[in-house]
Amino acid sequence: MPTTIEDFCVSKTDLRTTRWFESQAPDLEPEQLLLEIDCFALTANNITYAVAGERMSYWNFFPADEGFGRVPVWGFANVVESAHPEVDAGERIYGYFPMSSHLVILAGRVSERSLIDASEHRAKLPGVYNQYLRVSNDPTYEPSGEAMQMLFRPLYMTSFILDDFLADNDFFGASNVILTSASSKTSLGLAYLLHGDRDCQVIGLTSATNREFVEALGCYHRVLSYEQIDTLARTPSVIVDMAGNGTTLAAVHNHLDDELRYSCLVGATHWEARQGSRGMAGPKPELFFAPTHIQKRNEDWGPGGVETRFADAWGRFTAVVGNWISVRTVAGRDGVEQTYGEMLNGQVTPDIGYVLSVRET
Ligand SMILES: NC(=O)c1ccc[n+]([C@@H]2O[C@H](COP(=O)([O-])OP(=O)(O)OC[C@H]3O[C@@H](n4cnc5c(N)ncnc54)[C@H](OP(=O)(O)O)[C@@H]3O)[C@@H](O)[C@H]2O)c1
Repeated sequence: MPTTIEDFCVSKTDLRTTRWFESQAPDLEPEQLLLEIDCFALTANNITYAVAGERMSYWNFFPADEGFGRVPVWGFANVVESAHPEVDAGERIYGYFPMSSHLVILAGRVSERSLIDASEHRAKLPGVYNQYLRVSNDPTYEPSGEAMQMLFRPLYMTSFILDDFLADNDFFGASNVILTSASSKTSLGLAYLLHGDRDCQVIGLTSATNREFVEALGCYHRVLSYEQIDTLARTPSVIVDMAGNGTTLAAVHNHLDDELRYSCLVGATHWEARQGSRGMAGPKPELFFAPTHIQKRNEDWGPGGVETRFADAWGRFTAVVGNWISVRTVAGRDGVEQTYGEMLNGQVTPDIGYVLSVRET
């Protein structure tokens, strides 16, 4: 029986309009693999991929019908059919997938540890998203660690690079580092690194309803709600903005004025509140582009230097992060659709990590 592929698609012009598309899996061309996507994490980061889908080419990874896009996610898949001599059906891989039941990829650069999707439409997209890890040859892989890997690992890479970027720049002369959307996984990872190893005060800004949760984790020196920005000490500071909320950013800039030494734009969790920062005081915000700093460190540290250091940092983080959130698994179309809607609308709480699967289990 041919396999039915189910794709969750969202309108590119209205992220609240969603639709399921079904198709039959094609006969495989040489070197193609049919993957069954077993599970994937959904966080605000995936919503940002959709928000920036056109501008930053995120829609191009997994093309969909005219006007629709497939939101990229991080997860695990099993090879159910292989037309590549070095890859067997039954293998499990980790990487970048659409919110779908299946995906056909063209296996390329197959090595013991990894392979890439060498499909034409992905050739010009950043390589990091095209690579898939073969879990059976990944020494850091633990089946029991899959949820934390999907939920945190791609984000923690950004936390790790940001931490190193700030330290490499001597914190731009600042002693305080302020993180917005302090409850987000990317901010939590960065706070954990800064609080543990660096000589600076880490201050988290979050919604009033999330403050207690963030405070209890102990990875910030101080946690304030967005309404308390005027209580920030007027000392040399850096802001790392994960929320992308224009009003919040302007409030911090205007309050700290010249004491704000650097303003770093990373995320947009508050994706519908980006206006409001025009004409604010302080330095011009700079968009953080992790690959630029990774490139610098590749030159400084040599081949494998970033990967080895990250593996070490990830190992230490996994020992603590499991206690921070509980994992909620959701299977089936209705659950996927509902969780996507709640994530889009900010109706989820930061103490839960969502792991989804299109297929009913
Ligand atoms: N540039 C890069 O390379 C890069 C890499 C990784 C991540 N990021 C960005 O970092 C951000 C955080 O991603 P994440 O996956 O770590 O987030 P997450 O863990 O899912 O964060 C959840 C938090 O985000 C805020 N939030 C989420 N949706 C919201 C909404 N609709 N309205 C208002 N607040 C909302 C809330 O925090 P508060 O109440 O604390 O505001 C919520 O607790 C994303 O924008 C992501 O794209 C960027």
